[in-house]
Amino acid sequence: ELQDALAQVKTALAAVSDMNALEECRVRFLGRKGLMPALMAQLGKVPQDQKPAVGKTVNLVKQEIQQAFDDCGARLNQDQKTASALDVTLPGRQRAIGHKHPINLVMDSAVAIFRRMGFIVADGPDIETVANNFDALNSPQDHPSRTPDDTFYFDLDQHHWLDPEALILRTQTSPVQIRAMKAQKPPVRIICPGRCYRRDTPDATHGMSFHQIEGLYVDQCVSLADLKGTLAAFAREMFGTHTKVRFRPHFFPFTEPSVECDASCIVCGGKGCRVCKGSGWIEIAGAGMVNPAVFQNVGYDPDTTTGFAFGLGIERMAMIRYAINDLRLLYDNDVRFLHQF
Ligand code: PHE
Repeated sequence: ELQDALAQVKTALAAVSDMNALEECRVRFLGRKGLMPALMAQLGKVPQDQKPAVGKTVNLVKQEIQQAFDDCGARLNQDQKTASALDVTLPGRQRAIGHKHPINLVMDSAVAIFRRMGFIVADGPDIETVANNFDALNSPQDHPSRTPDDTFYFDLDQHHWLDPEALILRTQTSPVQIRAMKAQKPPVRIICPGRCYRRDTPDATHGMSFHQIEGLYVDQCVSLADLKGTLAAFAREMFGTHTKVRFRPHFFPFTEPSVECDASCIVCGGKGCRVCKGSGWIEIAGAGMVNPAVFQNVGYDPDTTTGFAFGLGIERMAMIRYAINDLRLLYDNDVRFLHQF
């Protein structure tokens, strides 16, 4: 009778296809008025001497029945999971696709513009020698930017900060000019996009690390007009055809004469806004005609060689292009900001 009951339970459970049916089975077989309790009641009537043997069988069957119920429950759970995984009415999942950082977007378009003009991309290390970053670029030894207050030095326990072999995080991309000129004879027409480091206190327009694009054009008869034309053409391509540039006199030890180059602010159309701080202009580059002393340092003939160089600030250009008034936004990695590009 017991085996019979077990078989009945198994057949019934095999047909069960949802949780309600399982519950019905539970009531039918295990409930107070169910089959199992009824069988149990009969156990009392078994003769004394057979009780141990019958009891043992009863326990085994009970276990098997419990197992059958558990298995059935597990099967239903699994079915439910598979069914929901295959719910074709669910909307598709949006994959979050990464994209380029605004700094890289500006860098890439600047590089593309200069490549169209015939410049070649050159590269140099972020860790430079004092010789390349300062000395070869004609930087005077008493220039405040050379002190450990302004520049990150690596090995001050082994080198004085005026030692040409001392290692620093480059403060500008200009040392790539030195590397390029030492590696080849004129004509040289290179750009070098890269990261620079200065011990500045971060604020809306300064960071401890920022990006520049260095440009260098060396040949015979290169003039300031060529520099101005190049930067003007670049600004028009970068910010739009109505963009104007202006040059202000400046000083850099490695260029003579030196200028700073401003672009008219496209955010306010030159009328004054928070991005250009009301002036209508924003500084985008330092530039000038390569100082003959630099040519001498790299072994070029300073009498016959001419050239211009410029260093464009990528962050500044990103601020104009995307109307950002605080460059710290570019480094906070707030996705609400980054999503917009
Ligand atoms: N290296 C200069 C700076 O970081 C910019 C510059 C580059 C100026 C090339 C002149 C020529 O301020």
